[in-house]
Amino acid sequence: MRVDLTGRVALVTGSGKGIGRAIADRFAAEGASVVYSDVEAPAEAAAADPRHMALKLDVTDEDDVQAAIDAVIARYGKLDICVNNAGIGTAPADRVTIDKVRIAQWKRLIDVDLTGVFMVSRAASAAMIPQKYGRIINISSVLGLVPMRLQSAYVAAKAGVANLTKGMAIELAQHGITVNAIAPGSTATDGWRNWINDATSEERDLHARLMSHIPMGRPAETREIAHAALFLADPDSAFVTAQILAVDGGWIAGFARDF
Ligand SMILES: NC(=O)c1ccc[n+]([C@@H]2O[C@H](COP(=O)([O-])OP(=O)(O)OC[C@H]3O[C@@H](n4cnc5c(N)ncnc54)[C@H](O)[C@@H]3O)[C@@H](O)[C@H]2O)c1
Repeated sequence: MRVDLTGRVALVTGSGKGIGRAIADRFAAEGASVVYSDVEAPAEAAAADPRHMALKLDVTDEDDVQAAIDAVIARYGKLDICVNNAGIGTAPADRVTIDKVRIAQWKRLIDVDLTGVFMVSRAASAAMIPQKYGRIINISSVLGLVPMRLQSAYVAAKAGVANLTKGMAIELAQHGITVNAIAPGSTATDGWRNWINDATSEERDLHARLMSHIPMGRPAETREIAHAALFLADPDSAFVTAQILAVDGGWIAGFARDF
């Protein structure tokens, strides 16, 4: 699929690596000026091409968020596409039942994965409303639609992202702004590949069991999530809003294995 994003300005949070990086690179390949932003070092891709911009942005820091949107407007005069991708998962040591979840762990995860999406969307939509144009794309998760055990904060945050997406969509439609979410299933980022390479036999078993739930029998490639983001970013997708697009190889459609 080719989408002409020439002249469009796209901010992608958490685009230093993983899914965010794949989305940012794909938008850049389709002609967009991309603001690579991350709490860690933003991608070197931004430095390699003067069309792009690199921003250090922590989505949990209100001042940082406003400064980032201001910097984008100062540089390009507009913001067409905002992808809320930055997120953290549940560390293995924190995978515990609800009675044992530490309050600090809960707050941190909600802060990054849900409040971060709200804060960036708030600032981005304020810039988009006067333009009468915008595409906001939130990265939720299949676990925001169907929860998994031992990840209560994550499943709550990602469900929050999914419903926030719909709430924003119905408010912003009148301004020509669409708001949609992608719910990725298991996705093969570099972090995931490193984990598989170093996995213990117990972890490999766990992974095999997880894959047996996915009808496609494999994780997504990051470019496959980026492809869905490109569809939602397309100026021609103007009538697609308030949707949660699962890109999961059929995972949450039903039970794919015999019990
Ligand atoms: N990989 C998967 O299997 C999978 C599945 C479903 C949903 N997701 C979601 O996709 C998104 C990207 O995940 P990924 O697998 O590419 O992760 P990743 O860890 O590879 O990349 C996440 C990026 O976000 C950045 N980040 C973390 N906290 C931040 C903050 N406070 N402010 C700004 N940036 C921050 C990190 O530095 C990192 O570069 C996340 O929202 C995640 O929940 C991932």
